[in-house]
Amino acid sequence: MTVADDPLSDLLQPGETSPLIVIASNRGPFKFHLKNGALQVERGSGGLVTALGALAEQHDVLWVAAALSKTDRAWIEQTGDQPAEVENIRLRLVRSSRKRYEQYYNVIANPLLWFIQHQLWDIPRTPSITLQTWKAWRNGYVAINRLFADVIADSVKDANRPVIIFPQDYHLYLVPRFLRERLGDEVQIQPFVHIPWPGPDAWRILPESIRDEILVSLLASNCIGFQTRRDAFNFVQCCRFYIPDAHSRGSRDSIYYQDRKIEARTYPISIDVEKVEALIEEPETRLLKSQLINAIGDHRLILRVDRIEPSKNILRGLEAFRALLVNHPEHRGRVQIMALLVPSRMEVSEYQDYLQQIMAQAGMINAEFSDQYWEPVRILVGESYPRALAAMQLYDVLLVNPIADGMNLVAKEGALVNQRDGVLLLSEHAGVFYELGEYALVVSPFDIYSTAEALHQALNMPQDERHARAEAMRQQVQSADVRQWFYRQVEDALSALSSQARKSSTPATPGSSTSEAANTEGGVSPDSTPSASA
Ligand code: G6P
Repeated sequence: MTVADDPLSDLLQPGETSPLIVIASNRGPFKFHLKNGALQVERGSGGLVTALGALAEQHDVLWVAAALSKTDRAWIEQTGDQPAEVENIRLRLVRSSRKRYEQYYNVIANPLLWFIQHQLWDIPRTPSITLQTWKAWRNGYVAINRLFADVIADSVKDANRPVIIFPQDYHLYLVPRFLRERLGDEVQIQPFVHIPWPGPDAWRILPESIRDEILVSLLASNCIGFQTRRDAFNFVQCCRFYIPDAHSRGSRDSIYYQDRKIEARTYPISIDVEKVEALIEEPETRLLKSQLINAIGDHRLILRVDRIEPSKNILRGLEAFRALLVNHPEHRGRVQIMALLVPSRMEVSEYQDYLQQIMAQAGMINAEFSDQYWEPVRILVGESYPRALAAMQLYDVLLVNPIADGMNLVAKEGALVNQRDGVLLLSEHAGVFYELGEYALVVSPFDIYSTAEALHQALNMPQDERHARAEAMRQQVQSADVRQWFYRQVEDALSALSSQARKSSTPATPGSSTSEAANTEGGVSPDSTPSASA
């Protein structure tokens, strides 16, 4: 993709130079594997990669990701530590030792940070911060974040155009600080946090120095993107509460720290509408759809599609389905729940245990209720995006009941492709609630009884109401796709860069320091309360 062909060039003002955009994430758009002695490419998985993959194909960006396996490392050997083009995406991988990666990914990022941010710890018992955790922090998380910053800095060092860097998600919280140290104030650093950002109390679990290192590093960014206003607000509160020199001056979405103003903005992520619409027409998806139609027969279908992930609340979902069969026996023999479950983070014991518990619970429900014609629970484990898209066209009810979720793109994909006026049953704690909650049946993820009642209500909902809700949801998803999510961030970055360029070309006048100027912006008086009492 040449700079001139890139649709992003439409966002530039006349005379502005096209920026070098770098996306950095732990999981990259591809995994490499060996087949007959040659390296083959396969698409990566997960919400982040699914959303960003299509964007990176269509724009002039460099994607920096971690090498996750031996074969990923073999690809680096082949490309000689330089960016290389793979299926239209310019990619560079960060190499580390297995041990470091293991400490960073399986000890710190998952489960420690992920569990804090989704509030999954059972705090009377877990987690315990041990010597192993401290070692994993220093030798794993900190070290790998530093490696990422080194690779990014090396990739942009000769750019003679503006540079915008978008580090993605909880794996890379320390990258902004390391980048700032290496590249100075000229570059625009805008991380995006895909997962929920809870309020200050949830972060008590982390030792003070680790917590502060994360927050102070994020404050080296220019702007931090969150899925919802609530996440952005919680971040601001955490900085006020834990970082003595950080002040919000009454704002809910910005923080002043060391004479700089850092924005906490909301960019709800979405799906690539065009791509998903094209994928459901692919022969493979059509074939899978007809196989599923045969398998489902004339049963009503409750569907869920998730990574095997404790925050997705799969166990309580099954429990609610059981309660439906107990409290409303008329559904027995008529309705089936199908769970398409993608294996995830299986090296982490919490995830292994979770899968075992799901299988045991599904087995118990089937043992209790099935007969020769009907098996109430079907669990399909494995990764197949075409199969998920095929099933999403066929559901009567889509169950999305996470304990906490940054966004949940399954709800958006389902709303877009479903052909049966299916009802969305949605947790109030998924980020997507703020966009689709109005048209869904909303439940508390902890309330098994009400979830069962909502399933009953969804299955009995009159056709015209189902249709009206489904149509409204589809329109909502079509009106805000992932390009918008990305373009808004690029636009904000470009305007920050150009106002910074204007500032540095204007001779300084007495009394015009950034902090003083910031004080008068919006007329908000300085926050003089000690941060710890916020
Ligand atoms: C979530 C996270 C992503 C992550 C994905 C899959 O969507 O926000 O950062 O890539 O889960 O998880 P995994 O650990 O397999 O990359």
